[in-house]
Amino acid sequence: MKKAAVVYCSPNGTTGHIAKIIEAELERAGITCLSVDLGKGDDGSHVIEEVEKGNMSLFVGSPVYAARPVPPVMQFISKLPKSNNVLVAPFVAWGAVSSGIALYDMGKALTDKGYTLIGAAKSAAVHSMMWRDENPLGEGRPNEEDDSIVRDFASRIVKKIESESPRSIPLSDLAYQPEPVHAEMEKISLTLAKGRMPAKALNEELCTQCLVCSEICPVEAITLTPYPRFSDDCICCFQCVKNCPETAITADLDQMGDYLRSRAQEMNERPFTAFFV
Ligand SMILES: Cc1cc2nc3c(=O)[nH]c(=O)nc-3n(C[C@H](O)[C@H](O)[C@H](O)COP(=O)(O)O)c2cc1C
Repeated sequence: MKKAAVVYCSPNGTTGHIAKIIEAELERAGITCLSVDLGKGDDGSHVIEEVEKGNMSLFVGSPVYAARPVPPVMQFISKLPKSNNVLVAPFVAWGAVSSGIALYDMGKALTDKGYTLIGAAKSAAVHSMMWRDENPLGEGRPNEEDDSIVRDFASRIVKKIESESPRSIPLSDLAYQPEPVHAEMEKISLTLAKGRMPAKALNEELCTQCLVCSEICPVEAITLTPYPRFSDDCICCFQCVKNCPETAITADLDQMGDYLRSRAQEMNERPFTAFFV
């Protein structure tokens, strides 16, 4: 019996939406599928155990943050055992600025483990920092066409999983940014980008200590002592700002809109949604 796991992090839900499409395709083919949302207190250890036993295919999904995959996804990959018996397919959701080198980063970390890269996909998504913007980048994405491209990707990967000798793709297929852009992005990281992100502020008078922020935080970076405090583990997903029922947590995200739009124009990345198989 073939087995697969879909492991992803999805603070705003789009990567999770793509994961569900992939899971449905696996189930349709009768492949037993483990699903792990790394943001829900699960670090994927049971998937790691299954990979150790062998005979496992892995889909690994991340949102693109500052051109790279998010830390929980790279931490999960770093804990995987080395093996030459694992088929992998990374996927990303990106907010119409640039999908950066996130697929390349994930593909490299996975092939460094000895895994066989059998495909990868990127899907356009609404930019998760722009929920207050009237015209957010990636508005309405992923749409039906994006979803159908992802479904096609998943069904082709399923066929590879089912085949006797699945054809791999070269890692260089995922280095699709122009060379100077790729080199520039190698120097970017979320840690560096954090310094340029709008700071979060807490209004203690509005805060009711309802715990929504700490429950929603995908990296457990918020503790209430007795008011929310943000640790350095924060990945700047801003879900605490977006979901605080009392608007006690704020960040001046409006200032980002113009910068993100001009960066998107400069990058002009097309197509938005695509796969490599
Ligand atoms: C801190 C931060 C950084 C981001 N960086 C990028 C980026 O470099 N390029 C891009 O196109 N979108 C970027 N986005 C947008 C997300 O990649 C996009 O909205 C994605 O769909 C979010 O995935 P999720 O819905 O699974 O959380 C960023 C969002 C956040 C919050």
